[in-house]
Amino acid sequence: MCGIIGCVGREDETLDVLVHGLSKLEYRGYDSAGVALTGDRLGICKQAGEIEALREALEARTLSGSAGIGHTRWSTHGPPTDENAHPHQDCSGDVAVVHNGIIENYQQLRDGLVSAGHHFGSDTDTEVVPHLVEDELAAGADPETAVRRAVARLEGSYAIAVVVAGSDAVYAARNDSPLVLGVGDGTGAAEDADAPGTGEGDGDAAADGQAYYLASDVPAFRDFTDRVVYLDDGEFAVLSAEGCRVTDVDGNTVDKPVDTVDWDPEETGKSGYDHFMLKEIHEQPRAIRQCLRGRVDEMTASVDIGDLGDLSPTGVQFVACGTSYHAALYGAQLLREAGIPAQTFLASEYATSPPPIGDALVVGVTQSGETADTLSALREAAKRGARTLAVTNTVGSTAARECDHALYIRAGPEIGVAASKTFASQLTALNLFALGTTRTGDTRDVIAALRELPSDVQQILDDSAAEAIAETYVDADGYFFIGRGLQFPVALEGALKMKEITYKHAEGFAAGELKHGPLALVTSETPVFAVVTGDDEMATKTVGNVKEVEARDAPVVAVTDGQSTVERYADHVLDVPETHPRAAAVLANVQLQLVSYHVADKLGRSIDKPRNLAKSVTVE
Ligand code: M6R
Repeated sequence: MCGIIGCVGREDETLDVLVHGLSKLEYRGYDSAGVALTGDRLGICKQAGEIEALREALEARTLSGSAGIGHTRWSTHGPPTDENAHPHQDCSGDVAVVHNGIIENYQQLRDGLVSAGHHFGSDTDTEVVPHLVEDELAAGADPETAVRRAVARLEGSYAIAVVVAGSDAVYAARNDSPLVLGVGDGTGAAEDADAPGTGEGDGDAAADGQAYYLASDVPAFRDFTDRVVYLDDGEFAVLSAEGCRVTDVDGNTVDKPVDTVDWDPEETGKSGYDHFMLKEIHEQPRAIRQCLRGRVDEMTASVDIGDLGDLSPTGVQFVACGTSYHAALYGAQLLREAGIPAQTFLASEYATSPPPIGDALVVGVTQSGETADTLSALREAAKRGARTLAVTNTVGSTAARECDHALYIRAGPEIGVAASKTFASQLTALNLFALGTTRTGDTRDVIAALRELPSDVQQILDDSAAEAIAETYVDADGYFFIGRGLQFPVALEGALKMKEITYKHAEGFAAGELKHGPLALVTSETPVFAVVTGDDEMATKTVGNVKEVEARDAPVVAVTDGQSTVERYADHVLDVPETHPRAAAVLANVQLQLVSYHVADKLGRSIDKPRNLAKSVTVE
């Protein structure tokens, strides 16, 4: 996930607006940043590193212009280097583009452009766009038409902003990636600004101090205006001194409503959600989609995870911590189902594990790619002669750099300390890994279920009864979570989430283990969340375990797709859509995330920054 900012305003202010906007968007990605401003020629400055590095680089430059674009990057194509930082330019240096999303047909476009003599300076998918615009300009199109035609050739997800030398405008388009416009400015001119869609303005924005903005998210310009226009997929915008115009794919003007945001600028990074965690829970459909994008083909029931598909390990050891450990437990089960011996180790305990055998692969599952315990286990594995793979969210992280291979989960930056969307993306990526490296089993069914996952998750987000259940049990003494098979890691994750954000006692168990000790703790004050999906033998056995707790007066909350008889013994039900068992684990977890979130919210906890915890744990 990257951040985009654009501005048309006073020549002496635009650059400051861009840099300020980038600092507000840094949570979306922070491995490199850059800006481009238009005058007669384009001025550009971009830099690997955080916004501060860009600020320092700008001190040595004189950039000015009334129209400009900026970008903060979270790498997806190519490592975080100066060359891969946005904006990207064409061969002439007259076109600059920033982009958020993934252009799926970029290789095909790039091949065509290279054959036509274009020179590329980066590894990014984005760079095809300025070259496409360049071709259209060379063919005689005006800048707006050139950008429009270039965008029409793109497939995939994008929010794009473009500036062209000699034109004091910013051109923007969106498809499946957010983009919002800001109208007016903080000097009072906003009151007089014409609404987008009218295509009118007083023609002298610079003189009036009037300004127009665009960004991936409102916080980027919230300090300057509270008047916003949300672009929809397929729409195109032109911001210029004449005003701000929105059109559809065919160029017809669209009358867009101008909304007023009532959020405190301090809070707008949460896009209106009370907490980053809730926002991130709601981002899961999109995160899963991003993880799958370009990697699965439902028609041929195939998975493309690049070179990783050739790894063919004879055995796999997973190392991970916390939530990532739970994802690793799940991943190991998938491999074992495909006949590959797979074990999971807490990274901090890896030193005591048996050495990897033969041509084994050691997989570090780590959202941040910086967790010291996991890095240390991976280094130990390398010392023992194993090949290593990082399954991570962070391009350019230590794990990604040090391992022999990396598989990116593409969840986008996660701000809340409690992992939520990254767990869903880890499970999705591990499915791809298992399918891609083993090529056995019911590939077609799994792929179909994965493709449905985003909408199934959305259904849960729309209809969940979790808040009411949280209200009922907010004062409970403690919480138990049980599940079997693929739902065992989900039970563990449900308990971890409850502990870390509510500060209440919670434990997760393999359902069959309850009777071997923990049952002694079960009372009428300890709700048991039983995750039971499907109606196979495992589900039947878990229903048996539910009966055991019900007989001890414990309230039971069943997380179920309704296929088994568990509802008969449950006090409450959290529904999940019926799907493949692998996808059911992701869905059940969403319900448990919501329960923990709402309990914590009702208790007034510091949800995004729980006490004593850090997002990235860089000490052993
Ligand atoms: O960045 P990592 O995935 O390596 O982090 C590992 C754990 O510290 C992490 O999953 C932690 O347990 C979660 N923040 C809990 O929600």
